[in-house]
Amino acid sequence: MKNEVSNGSSIPVNYEDRAAIEAFLAKNSGQPVVAVQGLGFVGAVMALVCANAIGNKYAVLGVDLLRPATYSRVKLLNEGTFPLVADDPLIDIYYQNALRQGNLHATCDPVAYQYANVVVVDINLDVNKQSDGKSELSGFDVDLTPFKAAMKTLGENCREDVLILVETTVPPGTCQKVVKPILDEEFKKRGLNPGKYKLGHSYERVMPGPQYIHSIQSYPRVYSGIDERSADAVESFLKTIIDTSQCELTRLGSTNATEMAKVLENSYRAMNISFVIEWTQFAEEAGVNLYEIVKAIRVRNTHANLMLPGIGVGGYCLTKDPLLASWSRTTMFNGAGMLDMSVKAVTQNDKMPVYAFRRLKFLVDGLSGKRVAILGVSYRGDVGDTRFSPVEPFVKQLESDGAATICHDPYVDEWPELNRTVQQDLAEVLSASPDMLVICAGHKLYSMDSTIDQINAVPQRLFIFDTIGLLSQQHVNKLATRHQVKVLGRGDI
Ligand SMILES: NC(=O)c1ccc[n+]([C@@H]2O[C@H](COP(=O)([O-])OP(=O)(O)OC[C@H]3O[C@@H](n4cnc5c(N)ncnc54)[C@H](O)[C@@H]3O)[C@@H](O)[C@H]2O)c1
Repeated sequence: MKNEVSNGSSIPVNYEDRAAIEAFLAKNSGQPVVAVQGLGFVGAVMALVCANAIGNKYAVLGVDLLRPATYSRVKLLNEGTFPLVADDPLIDIYYQNALRQGNLHATCDPVAYQYANVVVVDINLDVNKQSDGKSELSGFDVDLTPFKAAMKTLGENCREDVLILVETTVPPGTCQKVVKPILDEEFKKRGLNPGKYKLGHSYERVMPGPQYIHSIQSYPRVYSGIDERSADAVESFLKTIIDTSQCELTRLGSTNATEMAKVLENSYRAMNISFVIEWTQFAEEAGVNLYEIVKAIRVRNTHANLMLPGIGVGGYCLTKDPLLASWSRTTMFNGAGMLDMSVKAVTQNDKMPVYAFRRLKFLVDGLSGKRVAILGVSYRGDVGDTRFSPVEPFVKQLESDGAATICHDPYVDEWPELNRTVQQDLAEVLSASPDMLVICAGHKLYSMDSTIDQINAVPQRLFIFDTIGLLSQQHVNKLATRHQVKVLGRGDI
C-alpha cells in the first residue's frame, strides 16, 4: 500500500452528518447496517469487504474520528477515491462495486452507530515504548484511555440488540474486563437492557499488499463471544463476509482465549524472528552463510518456518503485540510476572537495525561523509506502510554518523515519521552519485533483472549492502562484476 492519499480539506464548523446518513440509509432501506469503527489500514478494507459481503447485502457506514487527517480520508471515500492506494487489484474492484451499489458511506459522526445492527471495531490500541533501539527496552506502557473512550461512544449510541465485534488487537481480558463493563454502564444510563447486546472478538492476519482483501475474506479466522448467544451471532455474521468454502472459522471458549490467541500468534512470530536475528549475528562473526543453513534445515517439516536474516521487525503489530500480552498478564490477571521471553524478543528485534548499521560501518570502514542510497523505507516488501519501519532507526544512525542519505521507495512518496520526501524514481537516485546502496525492503522492483542492469550501469564502484537477502546468488554474481556486494547473514565478505 502506498501512502495515504490526502485531499487536504478542513473540517467544517459544527460538523454533523445525520442527514447524509439518513439519506444513505433511505437509499439502502431494508438492508442490515454494519458500522466499521476506525478506517485505517484494517478498517478501511474491512468496510470494503462488508460492502461486498458474500452472504448478505449490507449498508456499510465507515466511522472515524473528527480530526483533519481522518476527515480528509472520510471525504475522499465519499467522493470516489479510496484513500489507501494498494497493490491488490481487488481493492479497486470492491470499491468501484460499492460505489455502483451505493452501499458504503463514510462519516466522522458517531450518530452512525445508532443505526447499526453490527459494529466492527478496527481502531488502534497503542503501546508506548521507552527504547533507544540500542539497549534493552527500559519500559513500556499501555494506555487504554482512547480505547475506552471509543467503547463509551458505542455504549452511548448503539441499539439495544447490537452485535459489537472487536477486531482490534487488545490485551487479553479486554472484552470481559474493559468493554463489557463500559457497555453495561452506558446502556443502563440510557435505560436499555444490557442483557440484550451481543459482544464478540475475532481476528485474522490482515496482510496489506497484493493479498490484502484475500487476507481478510479468505483466511482462517478465530472467534468467540462473551456468551453463547454472542458467539452464535458472531458466527452468523462472519459467515456472511468470510468465504468459508476456502477457510475455516474456529470458535474458542471465551473472548479471553481469542484475545490471547491473537497476541500469542504474533508473539510467536516476533520470537521466531528474534531467534534468527541472534543467529544472524553469530553467522556474521563466524563467516558462514546463514541462508544456506536455514534452507538446509527447512526441508524438515518440523523446522519449515525457521526465519531468514533481516534488518529487523517493523509494522504496527509485531513490534507491540508481545508487549500487550505481557502487560495483560501483570495488569489484567495479576499474573506471576511479565512474559519475559516475549518482551525480550521485541527488544532483540528493535536492536537489529542498529546492529545492521554497525555491521555496515565496520565493513566500509566508517560512514562519515559517505552518500548512501536507501532502497526501500517501508517495513515490508511491496507495501507502503512506514509505521515502525526498522529502516527508520537505520537511517537515523547513518545520519548521526555523518552519512548523507537519499531514500527510494516505489510505494512511499512521503515518509511521515521522518517528515521527508522519498524518491520514487530509481534512476534519479542512482544518478545522485551514491557511494553505496542499501537494500532495506523486499520490493519486487529491486530483484528485477532490469534493476540489476540499471545498477550495473552506474559508473562508480558501489558498495551494495543487502540487509534482507533479496538478491539471488545470480544477481549477486552479476553485481559483483562491477561492484562490491555484501548480503547480511551470508557471512561471505
Ligand atoms: N495492520 C495490520 O496488518 C493488522 C493486522 C491485524 C490486526 N491489526 C489490528 O487492527 C487494529 C487496527 O490496525 P490498523 O493498522 O488499521 O490501525 P490504524 O492506526 O491504521 O487505524 C486505526 C483507525 O482507527 C481510528 N480510530 C481511533 N479511535 C477511534 C474512535 N474512537 N472512533 C473511530 N475511529 C477511531 C483512527 O483514527 C485510525 O484511522 C489494531 O489493533 C491492529 O493491531 C492490524
